[in-house]
Amino acid sequence: MSSENTVSTTIQPANQGIANIGPYQTGKPIDELKRELGLDNIVKLASNENPLGCSALATQAVRNELADVGRYPDGSGYKLKAKIVEVFDVDMAQITLGNGSNDILELVARTFICPDDTVIYSQHAFAIYALATQAVGATGIEVPAKHYGHDLFAMAQAVRADTRVIFLANPNNPTGTWFAESDFEAFMQTVPEHVLVVLDEAYVEYFPEHFNSLKFLE
Ligand SMILES: Cc1ncc(COP(=O)(O)O)c(C=O)c1O
Repeated sequence: MSSENTVSTTIQPANQGIANIGPYQTGKPIDELKRELGLDNIVKLASNENPLGCSALATQAVRNELADVGRYPDGSGYKLKAKIVEVFDVDMAQITLGNGSNDILELVARTFICPDDTVIYSQHAFAIYALATQAVGATGIEVPAKHYGHDLFAMAQAVRADTRVIFLANPNNPTGTWFAESDFEAFMQTVPEHVLVVLDEAYVEYFPEHFNSLKFLE
């Protein structure tokens, strides 16, 4: 075989953005924490887990489908989407399902953000916004927090011509802060058309002033 035809077997390193991300440190299991701190009762709020256990209805629904797990599931999730349409009064085309909301955030990054773009998120916001931005090779702009929460005014001011996405968490994890509908509405009016606003409501059940953010969908 001539040298021109030789295939290199050197493994290429991961792209720079991914290579710079450290391995994820998972939260400690409750039993381990109990042992370590000598506590009896721990309510873990750092993971989207149900402290009351899995609902009996969900357990039964999984059991009902067990016989079919040898087949690929419906990748478009038709039945789930149809239920969401019914409950939230949205169009089916407006729904994207994910394996948890983390998956959706990463899909947003892969779908909409290019390496030359900038992405805005708040200081102390959910860590994945910065990681998803870094993973696609884009540049994150971290806007200083105000009283540990999002400073929406400063975030809107930080928008540049190359800004593609703004990530917002309402309420925020890990600081537990939130912003009101009127502040969000004012913010939306100042953000230019070329910017996609991602409103992450993963913890909305804890939000005392929850507003119907679906009305801002276009
Ligand atoms: C603000 C926020 N968004 C998204 C997620 C991801 O949640 P999920 O478990 O649905 O992937 C979390 C999880 O902690 C979160 O705090």
